[in-house]
Amino acid sequence: MSSNEQTLSIIKPDAVERNLVDEIKNIFIKNNLIIKESKKIQITKDEASEFYKVHQSKPFYNDLCSYLSSGPIIVMVLEGENAILSNRKIMGATNPKDADENTIRKLYGISIDKNSVHGSDSAENAKKEIEFFFKN
Ligand code: CMP
Repeated sequence: MSSNEQTLSIIKPDAVERNLVDEIKNIFIKNNLIIKESKKIQITKDEASEFYKVHQSKPFYNDLCSYLSSGPIIVMVLEGENAILSNRKIMGATNPKDADENTIRKLYGISIDKNSVHGSDSAENAKKEIEFFFKN
């Protein structure tokens, strides 16, 4: 529970395409998360498959990897007190239909696939995911 905990955040293709990057970044900032790193990239399907390999046995894996590699994304390192949990609360439930009011996925998510943002779900995955995009 350190005040400088870090987590990985991704603004997915659906939100980049709809010019929602600044709005989403402002939500993180207003909620006391500092954007330590940020870059706009497009990844290959192989890279997406590596990133999401924890989901490789799931029926949605192939579509998920195609989707994440379908257009530009913003990858960010967010830092703050309990950043991992805080970011997950700010994002809301995976399915925008189930997300609480004023969460990013409720405000901007289109569907469970096009749910606008990704955030690390644990300290272990945060470390791996930050290394995946920023320590190569
Ligand atoms: P994300 O937080 O990026 O992690 C994995 C993604 O898989 C998730 O967001 C969803 O966009 C996507 N996904 C698609 N179908 C499902 C499903 N049935 N359950 C969970 N995640 C799903």
